[in-house]
Amino acid sequence: MTIYRATVLDTPVDPFGGGTLRAESDIALAVRDGQITARGPFADVRAATPDDEVLDLRDGVLLPGFVDTHVHFPQVRAIGALGMPLLDWLEHSALPEEARLHETGYAQSVATEFLHGLTRAGTTSALVFGSHFASAVDVLFTQAEQVGLRVTSGLVVSDRLLRADLLTTPERAYDESVALASRWQGHERIRYAVTPRFSYSCSADLLEACGAAYKDIDDAWCTSHVNENLTEVAEVTKLFGGTSYVGTYQDHGLLDTHTILAHNVHPTDAELDMLSASRAAVAHCPTSNASLGSGMFPLAAHLHHGVRVAMGTDVGGGTGFSMLKEGLQAYFIQSLLGAQGVSLTPAHLLHLATTAGADALGLRDQVGELSAGKRFDAVFVAPAADSPLGVGIRHAAGPDDALAKIFAMGTPADIGRVWVDGKQIKHDTW
Ligand code: GUN
Ligand code: ZN
Repeated sequence: MTIYRATVLDTPVDPFGGGTLRAESDIALAVRDGQITARGPFADVRAATPDDEVLDLRDGVLLPGFVDTHVHFPQVRAIGALGMPLLDWLEHSALPEEARLHETGYAQSVATEFLHGLTRAGTTSALVFGSHFASAVDVLFTQAEQVGLRVTSGLVVSDRLLRADLLTTPERAYDESVALASRWQGHERIRYAVTPRFSYSCSADLLEACGAAYKDIDDAWCTSHVNENLTEVAEVTKLFGGTSYVGTYQDHGLLDTHTILAHNVHPTDAELDMLSASRAAVAHCPTSNASLGSGMFPLAAHLHHGVRVAMGTDVGGGTGFSMLKEGLQAYFIQSLLGAQGVSLTPAHLLHLATTAGADALGLRDQVGELSAGKRFDAVFVAPAADSPLGVGIRHAAGPDDALAKIFAMGTPADIGRVWVDGKQIKHDTW
């Protein structure tokens, strides 16, 4: 048993539903076998367990581990290619890099960089867009299992309109997806996600094969892109004879409570109703939406229609692994939307970066908040005392203000330690 003594901030009650930030100073979390067994004032918890090791984390802030619901494994080296809209960026930047993962040695190096990026940013759970190559997906799962992260991922499939070396067939897509799932589903914290890249690059037959794999793989997840860019949306509508973009997934059995669709910057009301009725979730990726010029996310409409929204970095369309930066960018965009925007508090941002993602990924009973009974997935934010963030936290008017400063100024360099299931996966110095 270890006792973590800290200031803890989390959002056990959804701030979009009336909850507020839970902030407690000098409390103790007692952790045994990866589970939080007690939470309370330090003196009380200590008195009940006087002989256990105490880790004193009072020189920073302890948060739940971040949950990134949309991040691309093969795009680490493509981050930061600015200046192109989606389809040009895919053709000239992302896809040439993705093609290189055909070679297993290359995929191994990228997987190491990718998992390092997640860990250093404090991400403990992620829905990961995999590779078009089954061999590279095996590499990702192998390394993710070694590191210990909660990773849901799968084979990305497409059968049209992308470079030829990334294309597959419906039969092969089904067979390789099912084979990968049979190797990995349920290994430690690994789960399988059926992953059509986007309806633009998937024929109806391929989506049908994905629907079959989704049905045949026990407890599978499904992820894809939707309504990201106006040119893309117009093409999809043409390719599917007028069916709505969300409808293309619904029509092939790919839309339900295990589905997370990224972006949804340009939905119709009917599509929002479809998402809400199916209980599918949307991964909001604000730095990517800004960087690729995709548009301003209509959060108010999603909330109004009761669509579940979580957050993703969308590396490498997004500008890095930091969920703090995504939270800040989400805040900026809603501010810029004026009367059409949602006024986001620091508690909303923390919720989007933690509990909302845990909920979207069906992990809410295990992670997302630091309460007794949950697994100990946590991030220790520990900026240098003389850094602007260190100074800001010390002089904050209260916990909400301190959290605002963490989102405004925090970077992966301010993440000290990270734990998943009680295992420390990142130390102060690496
Ligand atoms: N749509 C299809 N593929 C991608 C991708 O890799 N990134 C983003 N942002 N959108 C996509
Ligand atoms: Zn994406």
